[in-house]
Amino acid sequence: MVTAFAPGSIGNVCVGFDMLGLALAGVGDRVTAKRTGTAGISIAEVRGLDGEVHPSLSTEPDQNTASIAARALWQAHGDSTGIELLLRKGVPLQSGMGGSAASAVAAVVAVNALLPESLPHEQLLPFALEGEKYASGGLHADNVAPSLMGGLVLCPAVLLPRMMQIKTPTGVSSVLLHPEMQLDTAKARRSLAKGYTLEQWLSQQAYLAGFITGCAADDHALIRQSFHDVIIEPQRSAAVACFDAVKEAAMKADALGASLSGSGPSIFALCMDSNAPHVASAMEQACRSSGIECQSWVSPMTAPGAHVEDSQ
Ligand code: HSE
Repeated sequence: MVTAFAPGSIGNVCVGFDMLGLALAGVGDRVTAKRTGTAGISIAEVRGLDGEVHPSLSTEPDQNTASIAARALWQAHGDSTGIELLLRKGVPLQSGMGGSAASAVAAVVAVNALLPESLPHEQLLPFALEGEKYASGGLHADNVAPSLMGGLVLCPAVLLPRMMQIKTPTGVSSVLLHPEMQLDTAKARRSLAKGYTLEQWLSQQAYLAGFITGCAADDHALIRQSFHDVIIEPQRSAAVACFDAVKEAAMKADALGASLSGSGPSIFALCMDSNAPHVASAMEQACRSSGIECQSWVSPMTAPGAHVEDSQ
């Protein structure tokens, strides 16, 4: 019996739609996997952090990212026995915090430990992606990759299964604010415009390149200058009533930049470690002033990825 933890994550990280992700610390999903005599993958139970049966997540193996990912891995590398999963959901649903990816990643990391021959950690990505595909309706690894590997990961679809861990800048943290509301990622993806101008494309390439270079060189001024999304954020931010106020509060508190986390509603900022409590409290205050309750997490940009917590 093996229990694995996988963290939530920030998708897109403002500059890299569908191809850049950042792991969070202190919030994630746990999956316990154990062998059964019956072939196939089943889910015994899904519980929330309060220990109660989860009010909305399914235990139907075809409808849960954990079991879909676990099944893909077990079918490719398992044996004739079966696996039963217990999912403990720590990431709020439809929060833009990579919850579906965290369940899928925790499941493959737990099941991997039960395989006749376990795979190297990074080779689990394609199996976890099977779960994510079910949830979001598209092929993007920007939540699965950081949840699996930790830190800041570049994972463009055209280069998969390769993913590249990007050096994170010294002394920079993320602040993630979760306003108490839900947004459906699959729906948000379907509403995006299909065509963009050459000017938008050039700007966004420059911002992604500038951000990654700024991270690698510890150039905080370049990170700040590059932290813009001219393509996706303008299409999505109106769905989050507190977005403008929270972003403005983060910038006034001297964050390096702020944007939506994934498809929202969560909003994140990058800032110097010592300034993170101040940025978090400014963002929370702005959100509550908009009439929306919220919770926030501060994470180092080097937050660790998924790992086995317990094995018996
Ligand atoms: N890159 C995805 C999107 C992340 O923005 O739709 C979803 O969490």
